[in-house]
Amino acid sequence: MGNQAKVKVRNLTKKFGDLTVLDHVSFDIERGEFVCIVGPTGCGKTTFLNLLVKLLEPTEGNIFIDGEEADPKKHNLSFVFQEPSAFPWLTVEQNIRFGQETKKRPRQEIDQTTEYILEMLGLKDFRNKYPHELSASTEQRIVIGRSFAMKPDLLLMDEPYGQMDLKLRYYLEDEVIRLQQAAKSTVIFITHNIEEAVYLADRCLILSQKPTTVKEEVQINMPHPRNVASKEFIQLREYITEQIRWW
Ligand SMILES: Nc1ncnc2c1ncn2[C@@H]1O[C@H](COP(=O)(O)OP(=O)(O)OP(=O)(O)O)[C@@H](O)[C@H]1O
Ligand SMILES: [Mg+2]
Repeated sequence: MGNQAKVKVRNLTKKFGDLTVLDHVSFDIERGEFVCIVGPTGCGKTTFLNLLVKLLEPTEGNIFIDGEEADPKKHNLSFVFQEPSAFPWLTVEQNIRFGQETKKRPRQEIDQTTEYILEMLGLKDFRNKYPHELSASTEQRIVIGRSFAMKPDLLLMDEPYGQMDLKLRYYLEDEVIRLQQAAKSTVIFITHNIEEAVYLADRCLILSQKPTTVKEEVQINMPHPRNVASKEFIQLREYITEQIRWW
């Protein structure tokens, strides 16, 4: 595998009937890179992730992971959907154990990781509750915990923190960076929040209106944790916001 890109998107096109959503989109994501995708509502961000995990078939073009046709069964990837999607028939703790057990991780490792994740996400008091007994934002924390626990090679997050209050959001922004660094994961993170994108990303892809292409990419080289009040940070945030204003 060597230096080959983690994800390669080539000429990716998705139409729903007459509606062209993605229009011959091509880009690479490097191994270990944290990429944020921003773009207008309805431009096809969720569609792109659905294509990546094969919930949808492309009209044209390809997505490769580690040089092979993307296949969620083959690659160690996990996905935090835009809508909370904890398994309703499992408790909080069982939700977090589930994927790790599927991957047949050693029992002791599963116990340790599960405790660590329950603690990190403030879910210890709810461990025996079912998702329907909890608020939407708590359910979203279960899903985030479940995907962090997988230590995925490729972590896909679709507006994961949209429903969180600011304090939790800032905290989980730092935690996703920590996870990415510890597990050496590659992360694709979709957000409408430009400040969040500049806080997190090594690179930010700005998508256009439909028919959608990559309008611009912005490299962000500041070390973590980033100072949102620094001149460089504010300049980048304003620059990206300006690009979006011209949609
Ligand atoms: N299964 C489908 N059938 C028909 N049209 C669809 C389908 N899924 C998505 N679309 C359309 O494709 C476009 C892209 O939708 P998508 O959900 O990918 O946008 P998005 O960028 O994720 O938007 P948001 O920022 O609001 O989450 C929209 O116009 C949507 O109505
Ligand atoms: Mg979406």
